[in-house]
Amino acid sequence: MIAINDLTYEIGSRALYDEANWHIKPGEKIGLIGANGTGKTTLLKLIVGDLKATSGTISKSKDLTIGYLNQDLLSYASDKSILHVAMEAFARQNQLHDEIEELLKKLETDYSEDVLHKLSDKQSEFEALDGYNIEYKAHEILAGLGFSDADTERKLSTFSGGWRMRVMLAKILLQNPDILLLDEPTNHLDLPSIQWLEDYLRGFEGAVVIVSHDRWFLDKVINKTVESRKGKLTSYSGNYSFYVEEKELRGEIQKGEFKNQQAKIKQEERLIERFRAKASKAKMAQSR
Ligand SMILES: Nc1ncnc2c1ncn2[C@@H]1O[C@H](COP(=O)(O)OP(=O)(O)O)[C@@H](O)[C@H]1O
Ligand SMILES: [Mg+2]
Repeated sequence: MIAINDLTYEIGSRALYDEANWHIKPGEKIGLIGANGTGKTTLLKLIVGDLKATSGTISKSKDLTIGYLNQDLLSYASDKSILHVAMEAFARQNQLHDEIEELLKKLETDYSEDVLHKLSDKQSEFEALDGYNIEYKAHEILAGLGFSDADTERKLSTFSGGWRMRVMLAKILLQNPDILLLDEPTNHLDLPSIQWLEDYLRGFEGAVVIVSHDRWFLDKVINKTVESRKGKLTSYSGNYSFYVEEKELRGEIQKGEFKNQQAKIKQEERLIERFRAKASKAKMAQSR
């Protein structure tokens, strides 16, 4: 679905990514982790096309739809109600709604076959796209993210940054894209909303990439972990706890290898000692 091949991204003379590789498959639930400044946010921007790679390729399957939640959305402003903003997710349904209204108006003066035909077409498409349920869906998601029914009529601009961020998250979820890229989605959420989001993402059929430092949240949602470290991307086939265990295990293996090495060195030293001892004995024998 998304294939990243030999991705190199340089900031000045520093390579943030150095021939990194990563393939994202449909439906995967991935935690993208790594220390601060290793380039997780940059990687998501490269995927959506906000930034251009220095070299390498990022290919996406045709018509792939991406929902991207990032911290820049904190500054998104609108004087529309939050219900309206969330419902902007349904671009096609909204367009059809307006066209239907217009055709109905036209019918008052022009009762022709042509207008009737168009109206019927638009109405069937609207119905096929579940147009009558979009308001209900928007209410449901806003409620999950902590908004009361009364809140939904308030202007977006009257909410604080953290609450505006929740509205943007609601809108992105309502778009129901093929893949969600969520950069630190729990930063502005309280516990009930985090739990609601966990359930939502578990039930989501598309792919999800989550950047988060919240290991409990990650453990509940993801089944794959990708670590951004030293310019490379490494995949682990499990959730965050699995990743930690696997890292420790790999650490143990290295420790084991170290022990083996130490044992070998000791053995060699002993051999050398014995050889020297023999050699000096022989010398002593010779000099006698
Ligand atoms: N516009 C920029 N100009 C210069 N350096 C940047 C810019 N954006 C990010 N960086 C640097 O790139 C590195 C990676 O940043 P970022 O992708 O935000 O990391 P992360 O999300 O993993 O914490 C950081 O060292 C940061 O200082
Ligand atoms: Mg970041």
